[in-house]
Amino acid sequence: MEIRNVGVVGCGLMGSGIAQASAQSGYPTAVIEVSQEALQAGRTRLEQFLAAGVARGKVTPEAKQATLSHLTFGTDPKALQACDLVIEAVVEDRSLKKEMLTRLDRIVKPEGIFASNTSSLSITELAAATRRPRRVLGLHFFNPVPLMKLVEVARTFETDAAVEEAVIAFARSLGKTPIRTPDRTGFIVNRLLVPYILDAIRALEEGIGSIADIDQGMKLGCGHPMGPFTLLDLVGIDTTYFIANIMFEEFREGRFAPPPLMKRMVLAGFHGRKSGKGFYDYSVEPPRPNDFLAAR
Ligand code: 3HC
Repeated sequence: MEIRNVGVVGCGLMGSGIAQASAQSGYPTAVIEVSQEALQAGRTRLEQFLAAGVARGKVTPEAKQATLSHLTFGTDPKALQACDLVIEAVVEDRSLKKEMLTRLDRIVKPEGIFASNTSSLSITELAAATRRPRRVLGLHFFNPVPLMKLVEVARTFETDAAVEEAVIAFARSLGKTPIRTPDRTGFIVNRLLVPYILDAIRALEEGIGSIADIDQGMKLGCGHPMGPFTLLDLVGIDTTYFIANIMFEEFREGRFAPPPLMKRMVLAGFHGRKSGKGFYDYSVEPPRPNDFLAAR
């Protein structure tokens, strides 16, 4: 079982990164989105990331061109018909993902493998939306995908062992380090990371420290590459909010419950870096902490 052609569904923050990683490793990669507008936004993000890599001397202009030449973009799922592996990276919405997988199941060749980049929804439930549950598993990438080395590979009790091995080999071929985990909400990393991130917001709500001091604390005191608020702004406060809600629904434990400030930020459009505002204000350089959040 060899993976030669890859399809990526969704070209948001994660989808565009996954498509880049796949194309960079030489896989012909077809990317689809729901609208031309969303497709163009994702394509621009991917091209900018590659251009930044060239500017830093990390990617040669030839490698950039080669990566782009392996990519095709469109809105018609029929482009995924012959893919050996289809990775879905659409928004963390259960019914949307299930509907989309049911649709793809009718289009993609029966031996094609389906991987979901979900970090919180049940892979077993997503697999049940298809007629190929033995060929479905979780493949969870980390943001920013082209730079982060880890991939979680999550099998259900139905996933064919050969499918898991083929996807592990695929992840390695992207230069990633795969780790295995069974289908449990949050897998390994988010099980530990989400309560930590939510606790940082609670600490801010309780006045334990300012945004900048909490970030500095975890950077300089624990050696984290970025503090929890910078990380939240990078991953997306809306995305993390969805994930926390799903984890809370699954485990019914207070540590997974999104704090009120987080809910209000999502409602007000403070979604992090991608919306220009989150725990930091990105309209200025360097970004400035939105200290008014602590007081409200
Ligand atoms: N192309 C190629 N290489 C690039 C690049 C680009 N566009 N941009 C940066 N790089 C390279 C740099 O040259 C540098 O390489 P070097 O180490 O060999 O010098 C390296 O990437 C790091 O870049 P920077 O020096 O600019 O930036 P930092 O050192 O600050 O690292 C970071 C940036 C990798 C994002 C780091 O801050 C980090 O690891 N942050 C934590 C991210 C994290 O925790 N992600 C997981 C989120 S959770 C998640 O995604 C799960 C979801 O379900 C919620």
